[in-house]
Amino acid sequence: MTSKKSINVGIIGFGTVGSGTACILIENADIIKRRLGIPVKLKKIADLDIKRDRGVKLGDVQLTNDAKGLITDPDIDIVVELIGGYKPAKEFILDAIKHKKHVVTANKALLAVHGEEIYAAAQKAGVTVGFEASVAGGIPILRSLRDGLAANQIESIYGIVNGTCNYILTLMTNEGRKFDEVLKEAQAKGYAEADPTFDIEGIDSAHKLAILTMLAFGTPVKFEDIYTEGISKITPLDIDFARDLGYKIKLLAITKKARGEVEARVHPTMLPGDFSIATVDGVFNALNVVGNAVGSTMFSGRGAGDMPTGSAVVSDIMDIGRDILSGCAGRMPVAAFREREPLKIRKMEDITSCYYLRFAAMDKPGVLSRISGVLGKNNISIESVIQKGRGAAEAVPLVMMTHEAVERNVRSALAEINTMDCVAGPTMVIRVEEGQK
Ligand code: HSE
Repeated sequence: MTSKKSINVGIIGFGTVGSGTACILIENADIIKRRLGIPVKLKKIADLDIKRDRGVKLGDVQLTNDAKGLITDPDIDIVVELIGGYKPAKEFILDAIKHKKHVVTANKALLAVHGEEIYAAAQKAGVTVGFEASVAGGIPILRSLRDGLAANQIESIYGIVNGTCNYILTLMTNEGRKFDEVLKEAQAKGYAEADPTFDIEGIDSAHKLAILTMLAFGTPVKFEDIYTEGISKITPLDIDFARDLGYKIKLLAITKKARGEVEARVHPTMLPGDFSIATVDGVFNALNVVGNAVGSTMFSGRGAGDMPTGSAVVSDIMDIGRDILSGCAGRMPVAAFREREPLKIRKMEDITSCYYLRFAAMDKPGVLSRISGVLGKNNISIESVIQKGRGAAEAVPLVMMTHEAVERNVRSALAEINTMDCVAGPTMVIRVEEGQK
C-alpha cells in the first residue's frame, strides 16, 4: 500500500459527460471513499468555456482553460478526456501518457480508429487507459468482457449500442411512423444530434463494435474492415412484415468468431420478437454475449447521458485508484490480453445469414417463378413467401425469407433481379439472426 492521501483527478471537457462525472465524484464522494479507503479528489476541470453554469456544485475544484497545465500538474494522477472527437483529444491523451498519467476516456471514435497507438503508448509508459464509458454508457460491458467473462471463449456479441437508433426504430414499430418524421422528433427532444449521421448511418455503433471485438477476441481491429449500414432505408412496411413474421428490426452491432476469422458488422437486423435484446426498446442499449462456458448472457441499461456515462467514467477512475493504492497500476493490460492474436475480419461478401428480401414486384403470372429462379441459380433457398396487395398496374410488395445463404450469392442474385422488367425498384434486404436464447 502507498501512503497516498487521495487519488487526484483532472477532467478535460466540461460538457454533458464531464458534468455528470464531476457531479458523481462530488455527490458520491462518501461512497467512493468508503470503497477505496481514501478520497478521490476532483482537482481541476479544463474547458474552453469556464463561465457557463453547468449546475454542478464544484466547491474548491479549479476551473481552467489550460488543458496542457492540467496534464502536466504533478499532483494529478488521472487525466479524464471527455471532449470527444479526434483532435485535440488524441494529442491530450498521448501527452498525458507521456507525463505518466493514467487516462480515462469515453471517446469511442478515437479508440476505434487510433486505439492501437494509444494502448501501445500506455503499455510502454506503464500507465492505464480506462474506457468503460466508450461503449453502451452506463452498462459495465467492457469490464464484464475483461473480468467477469474472462474464462470464456466468446462466441458472439449482439449489441444494440446506439440509443438514438433504438429510439427511432421503437417509435416506428409502436406507432407505425416513418423514419424521417421520427428522426425530426428525436432531434427536437435532444436524443439525436443536429447532425445525426454518425448515429443513423451506424458509424457510432461501428466505433463501439471495434472496441467490443478487440476486447472479446484479443485482436487488433481495423475500423475500416467493419461493414456498416444504417437504418435510414427502413420503412414502416418492413416493420409490419417483420411483425407478421414474428420478428423485430433492431440496428445491431454483431461480432462472432467462426472458422478462425471474426465477423464484425453493423446493420439493421431482424431478431425473433421474444429474443432477450429484441425486447429492449426506446433509448436503452442492450447486449447479448454468448460465452462457451457461461452460455447466453444479457446486459441492458442506459447507453448515453450525463449520469449513466459518468457512472462508467468514475468506475474506471476508481479501478485505477485501487491499482495505484496497491502499487500494481497496469495490472490489467490496456487491451485486456497479454498475448494478442491478430484475426482476420471476414469480408462481408463471405458471411452467411438468412435474409428478408422485399421485392417491388409486378403482380403478373410468372413473376414469382422468375425471381425464385434467379435465387435458385445463385444457390439461395427460399423458406417462405408472402405477397400483400393485388393489382396488375402497380408493383406490390413480395417478401421472401431465405434459408442460410452466402452474402456474395445474394448480392449477385439481386444485381440480376433488380434489372428485370417485372421488378419496379431496388430490393430491400434485411439480414435475419436467430440468436441463442
Ligand atoms: N449517440 C449515442 C447514442 C450516445 O445515440 O446512443 C453516445 O454513444
